[in-house]
Amino acid sequence: MAISFPDGFRWGTATAAHQVEGNNVNNDWWAWEHADAGVCVEPSGDACDQYHRYPDDLRLLAALGFDNYRFSVEWSRIEPEEGEFSRAELDHYRRICAECLANGVEPVVTLHHFTTPRWAAADGGWHDERIVDRFARFCERTVDHLGDLVGRACTINEPNVVAFLGYQMAVFPPGLIDADLWRAAYGNMIAAHRRSYDVLKAGRGEFPVGLTLSMTDYQAVPADDPKAVEARDLVRHFAEDIFLEACRGDDFIGVQTYSRSRYGPDGQLPSEPGVEVLPMGYEYWPQALEATIRRAWEVTDQVPVLVTENGIGTDDDAQRQAYVRAALEGVRRCLDDGVDVLGYTYWSLLDNFEWAFGYGPRFGVVDVDRATQERRPKPSAYWLGAIARANGLAD
Ligand code: GCO
Repeated sequence: MAISFPDGFRWGTATAAHQVEGNNVNNDWWAWEHADAGVCVEPSGDACDQYHRYPDDLRLLAALGFDNYRFSVEWSRIEPEEGEFSRAELDHYRRICAECLANGVEPVVTLHHFTTPRWAAADGGWHDERIVDRFARFCERTVDHLGDLVGRACTINEPNVVAFLGYQMAVFPPGLIDADLWRAAYGNMIAAHRRSYDVLKAGRGEFPVGLTLSMTDYQAVPADDPKAVEARDLVRHFAEDIFLEACRGDDFIGVQTYSRSRYGPDGQLPSEPGVEVLPMGYEYWPQALEATIRRAWEVTDQVPVLVTENGIGTDDDAQRQAYVRAALEGVRRCLDDGVDVLGYTYWSLLDNFEWAFGYGPRFGVVDVDRATQERRPKPSAYWLGAIARANGLAD
């Protein structure tokens, strides 16, 4: 089935500083990787050395056909100690934005992508309300330095994941299981989004601002079972709705979707027999993107949706293409029903450091040789780049 997308629909790929730059030694994740928490498979180390190799990566991304690049700036590099801002690091990220523009690629800048400076993590972290002012000040200094080059800004990447995995599951730093601190953390992240939204809108440059949210197609099974619906609604309220409601009136909402979760009358269900389970432990379910776009549109009261992450960790590149095609068919159906979807960003440009999973899961359309750092585009890189150039898929 041939699919075309509206004029101006955006086509990008995404990364995050800690997952690709290398040697991000001054944040909570570097410490977490080297703690004896026994959670991380391996440390991030050199990652993809994109701190130095970004010019070649941006040339490759543009040559493939993408029109924007979503990346994050690293707070711990820009503000290595509280109140001490590095002009050299701000210049570094300004150069990345300039290099994007020189390649005809719009810079989509994420201000916080999972990592927090060690000094802030050690002094209350996200469960201490002082983080809101600290994050707002960092955003203000950053936008003052490079805001004139920014095409779009994402305030906080997946605050729901940072709070839940860090304070209820102990698999992200600070590695706690404490409901009170979890509530404080997500409350502060929502407050930080609101404050940073205002700071970025008021600062240098003119660009859309939004939050990016991890979303899941939460399904009640059976769909009409009141207890199953109740169980699903309760989880989804804390996992997504409280964040979506806080984003009403924003320029856009970044939807980041990979799979689904099913809830029966007695709680979460295992994966459905016959549905493939991917190496990350969740089902192969590309249909989830359509469901979550529709939900974000509904709960935010029709804030424009930008797909800021969608992809699959797989060694089977043909499966990657099948997954993306099915996801894009769902995006088209949302557009047909009047949902304002601004664009699609594939996660990720590069195979990279997948947090506690290390370098095992391979989400990239570009392979990275772990020893030599050589980039080798996969067939999906050319396939998706051609879709970007054509703004559509052929049969
Ligand atoms: C996330 C993060 C990314 C992940 C990606 C694959 O959504 O968890 O934004 O950093 O690498 O989602 O799991």
